[in-house]
Amino acid sequence: ESVFQGRSFLAEKEFTKEELQYLINFSQHLKALKKRNVPHRYLEGKKIALLFEKTSTRTRAAFTTAAIDLGAHPEYLGANDIQLGKKESTEDTARVLGSMFDGIEFRGFSQEMVEELSEFSGVPVWNGLTDEWHPTQMIADFLTIQEAFGKVEGITLAYCGDGRNNVANSLLVTGAILGTNIRIVSPKELQPDTSVIELANTFAEKSGANLLITSDVEKGVKNADVLYTDVWVSMGEEEKFEERVKLLLPYQVNQKLLEQTENENVIFLHCLPAFHDASTVYGKKIKDQFGMEEMEVTDEVFRSVHGWQFQQAENRMHSIKAIMAATLGDLFIPHV
Ligand code: CP
Ligand code: NVA
Repeated sequence: ESVFQGRSFLAEKEFTKEELQYLINFSQHLKALKKRNVPHRYLEGKKIALLFEKTSTRTRAAFTTAAIDLGAHPEYLGANDIQLGKKESTEDTARVLGSMFDGIEFRGFSQEMVEELSEFSGVPVWNGLTDEWHPTQMIADFLTIQEAFGKVEGITLAYCGDGRNNVANSLLVTGAILGTNIRIVSPKELQPDTSVIELANTFAEKSGANLLITSDVEKGVKNADVLYTDVWVSMGEEEKFEERVKLLLPYQVNQKLLEQTENENVIFLHCLPAFHDASTVYGKKIKDQFGMEEMEVTDEVFRSVHGWQFQQAENRMHSIKAIMAATLGDLFIPHV
């Protein structure tokens, strides 16, 4: 039995450096198998429920295709399809789904809900994003960093933008565990919660990661290996648009900010979706209202040679595969 078998994947803080590094390496291994068309059916015959309270492209697509490659059957249960959140409690939903499915993915608002699903379902539950954390995203992100630089330890990542959202929280804590230097470059109002900083500091003491929370862009991005940003307005907080634009404009990842890294080999990451042009319905609305065609990243940077965001997006599938196979697979998982 492996250290992963039967466990849920709810937040990075519940895993050691070695465990997270194993999941990154295992993802890389499964990616290589996939590229060579070598079958890797670790979850033959399993049934997987995909619960989504919020919308998704990557997470849904990654869980679906990963499950199929692993030999499992994924079933999508959207917010408007099931009783959860309206007529039925999380506990009752968990008990029912756990009696039929072998594993459950949940994307939604509250971290408590994903924890409750895990507590009462009796099967592994994977957090596909809550307001607080985005842990499956992290395995893909650090895999991408490992592909670019051959390692994650000692690499410096500067995250510019909303420092209080799920992705920022997860980057800070995951980097701290793994020994990756993380800088959160955000205005005072949007810097991480003290509890998240304290948690990250505890891990950093052990791993040796250098952490920096700053509102100073120049200092924050200098010599960074990775520039990372995320949307200024996350799902569920759409009314905050105007105040975010005001606060975050100086933190936009543009050509000037990229040059301030003084690192010509810097890579750009974004969990996506990204607001880099006004081609979408949402984009047109913003353009009409605020006259802006780009927000957290310019189209120029997004489409430049520095942009690794689509490789990062593909890595969602390989890493979700690793997470599901490690926690739910009956087969021996290899040393990688
Ligand atoms: N990065 C990410 O989670 O994308 P989706 O919202 O499309 O799943
Ligand atoms: N912070 C973003 C991430 C989307 C993948 C959100 O929660 O909307």
